Amino acid sequence: MLLSATVLVLGALQYAAAVPTPAFDINIGVGSTSDAKTTAVSQDDITNNLVRPALFSRAAYCSAAAVENWQCGDSCDALPNVKVLTAGGDDGLIPGFFIAHDVDKNTIVVAHQGTDPQNFLSDLNDLKFSQVDANTTVLPSAGGDVKMHDGFAETQGRTADLVLSTVQSALNSTGAKSVLVTGHSLGAAVASIDAIMLKSKLDPSIELTSVVYGLPRVGNQAWADLVDSMLGSSFTHVTNQNDPVPRVPPQFLQFQHPSNEVHITAVDPSGETATAEQCPGQENSNCSGGNNILDASVTNHRGPYFNNISMANRFCTL
Ligand SMILES: *[C@@H]1O[C@H](CO)[C@@H](O)[C@H](O)[C@H]1NC(C)=O
Ligand SMILES: *[C@@H]1O[C@H](CO)[C@@H](O)[C@H](O)[C@H]1NC(C)=O
Ligand SMILES: *[C@@H]1O[C@H](CO)[C@@H](O)[C@H](O)[C@H]1NC(C)=O
Ligand SMILES: *[C@@H]1O[C@H](CO)[C@@H](O)[C@H](O)[C@H]1NC(C)=O
Repeated sequence: MLLSATVLVLGALQYAAAVPTPAFDINIGVGSTSDAKTTAVSQDDITNNLVRPALFSRAAYCSAAAVENWQCGDSCDALPNVKVLTAGGDDGLIPGFFIAHDVDKNTIVVAHQGTDPQNFLSDLNDLKFSQVDANTTVLPSAGGDVKMHDGFAETQGRTADLVLSTVQSALNSTGAKSVLVTGHSLGAAVASIDAIMLKSKLDPSIELTSVVYGLPRVGNQAWADLVDSMLGSSFTHVTNQNDPVPRVPPQFLQFQHPSNEVHITAVDPSGETATAEQCPGQENSNCSGGNNILDASVTNHRGPYFNNISMANRFCTL
């Protein structure tokens, strides 16, 4: 797996060189970067803010039937007091997703399943990264300059109306005043678009938080700036060591990450304890923005993130 992914990436590098564009991990002339100093994320911060969304993101890899009954193995066992409102997905055009009431936190949770990292990397091989205008019905706050990855925008659009209406009715019926939007990989991309949608459509008194894992680049500089201005530090994207997925689509094709990256720099052999840095600015070169693609590890895309939480279909066969 690791080897074939490396071959794919190297193939892409050669292809990129042949079409005279800079190799995708080199930021020549396009895309702003930050080299601001990082600060350590405390274990308390990890426990309080980053573990719970990771449990929900892992659960999104389980079948809708398992999620509906909240019998999805380790994630469901770790969060016993969750009432699922809707679960769906078809393992095809609509990846798995669910909307639930986290009763202990009195929060409405939206979680989206991801896809195999090979898909991103083989897309890269074909340079299949076209951009579309944001759909302003879904994202009324997006200006005309916001461009998004077509596949991510289309995937989000397939569940957008259901997510919005279910979250609205769940807020009404439970009295919850907060929403968490989470996901891993493709699910992270969809979750970040959902977060902007919900932020602009829900009552401003609702506290919206989005924590995503292994996020690919979703849109252009105007998209990254929109996420920063609307969500600020209520958005966090967690990257694990040498995961190549946060480096695609490349900056030279006008893709840019928003701020608020938390970068895992090491995980102990048990997978339980991660060391992580808070990375100021967009595309911080001390975090995944500085990774060398030659060291890429697809295994790192799956995790483990925190508390030995790994995310992929193989980690939930229920
Ligand atoms: C961050 O990057 C800058 C520029 O590359 C470097 O001078 C600095 O030492 C780095 N900081 C950390 C904490 O690694
Ligand atoms: C934009 O989103 C709305 C609401 O989900 C949908 O009905 C419409 O078809 C979308 N437009 C495009 C161009 O995808
Ligand atoms: C939620 O409640 C508000 C105010 O009570 C109402 O305007 C809105 O239509 C309700 N939304 C849903 C989806 O039930
Ligand atoms: C960590 O998670 C993996 C995958 O779910 C599992 O196989 C392994 O036994 C776990 N390790 C520990 C120490 O619990």
